[in-house]
Amino acid sequence: MKAIVLDGVHKPFQIKDVKKPTLAANEVLVRVKAVALNRRDWWIQQGQYAGLKFPLIPGSDGTGIVEAVGSPSEERWLGQEVMIYPANDWGDSELAQDKDFTILGLPDSGTFAELVKVKVHNLFILPYHLSFEEAAAFPLAGLTAYRALFCRAKLKKGERLLINGIGGGVATFALQWALHMGIDVYVTSSKKEKIKRALDMGAKDGVLYTDPDWVKQLRQKGFAGFDVIFDSALGDSFPDLLDLAISGGRIVFCGGTAGNLPPLNGRKIFWKQLSILGTTMGSPKDFKEMMDFVNHHKVKPVVDSVYPIALTEKAIQKMATSDQFGKIVLRAEWNI
Ligand SMILES: NC(=O)c1ccc[n+]([C@@H]2O[C@H](COP(=O)([O-])OP(=O)(O)OC[C@H]3O[C@@H](n4cnc5c(N)ncnc54)[C@H](OP(=O)(O)O)[C@@H]3O)[C@@H](O)[C@H]2O)c1
Repeated sequence: MKAIVLDGVHKPFQIKDVKKPTLAANEVLVRVKAVALNRRDWWIQQGQYAGLKFPLIPGSDGTGIVEAVGSPSEERWLGQEVMIYPANDWGDSELAQDKDFTILGLPDSGTFAELVKVKVHNLFILPYHLSFEEAAAFPLAGLTAYRALFCRAKLKKGERLLINGIGGGVATFALQWALHMGIDVYVTSSKKEKIKRALDMGAKDGVLYTDPDWVKQLRQKGFAGFDVIFDSALGDSFPDLLDLAISGGRIVFCGGTAGNLPPLNGRKIFWKQLSILGTTMGSPKDFKEMMDFVNHHKVKPVVDSVYPIALTEKAIQKMATSDQFGKIVLRAEWNI
């Protein structure tokens, strides 16, 4: 079968012939219809991810049709249109994942293939209101945003949310989840067009974090600060978020696109009784809750662009420049 294969650090994503996976009793083979890129796939290509091993088939997000099952007791899945919970072995605690937790696409072969092998309990029926391409946008980024806002930061109706760097895949899902909850959302971005897109979707207001006085601009909006701040960039501007949070506020972050954490003023954190919360993806329970939310509100994802999977390398170059607004999806089109 064909798959997108990465042979090493800084190598291009290329189509190769690979062996078709074999199944154990609790596994199924999904014929992939669409997948989506995550920043993780780019970090792996850059060699900036733990546990690298090459060659690898990347990809955490995927949708498709179940083509084979490892056990006769799972035959009801044959022919079902599905999306995939993109991880294994979360463990029993909802507080954090187990040490054996893994994400599809490293170390296990990922979704960027004609066929992907997954655990049967990771299958979810494709929502009726979504195409394969739309549904492929949700799994990793949607789940991360869902857990960040609702499980970690415990965002509630009536609160005010700031999303720092709205262009990212996780950030646009955070915007959607919050808007469906009736939350007042403010955003930052490096680009005016992205702020406009967010306002068109229902955000209250936004500022360019590239403006030297962006913190002042937000502080002049006429309220004390934000109850919850979502960030996936870290970097030099993270200390400003301590000023933008109200006393008792929560700052939740899932990544470090702009670098690591600079020194923070600990006094501000304890005096303002701030909670700084790390978050990573989500449990199967979080995923089920997200899927219920998606089905209930008929949520459609923000898809920046759709490429044939044969052009994965071109698509990841777009992500490298942070040019996108929302998710970059790849349809299973192997010959172009
Ligand atoms: N822990 C987890 O489970 C988990 C899950 C998913 C993602 N992540 C991590 O979270 C980060 C975002 O992931 P993603 O898939 O959403 O990536 P993405 O789509 O590539 O998002 C990148 C966005 O970050 C924003 N950004 C860059 N520099 C910034 C800065 N200095 N200040 C504020 N915003 C800045 C930009 O927003 P603008 O374009 O609006 O300027 C950019 O569009 C990545 O680092 C990823 O590895 C972690």
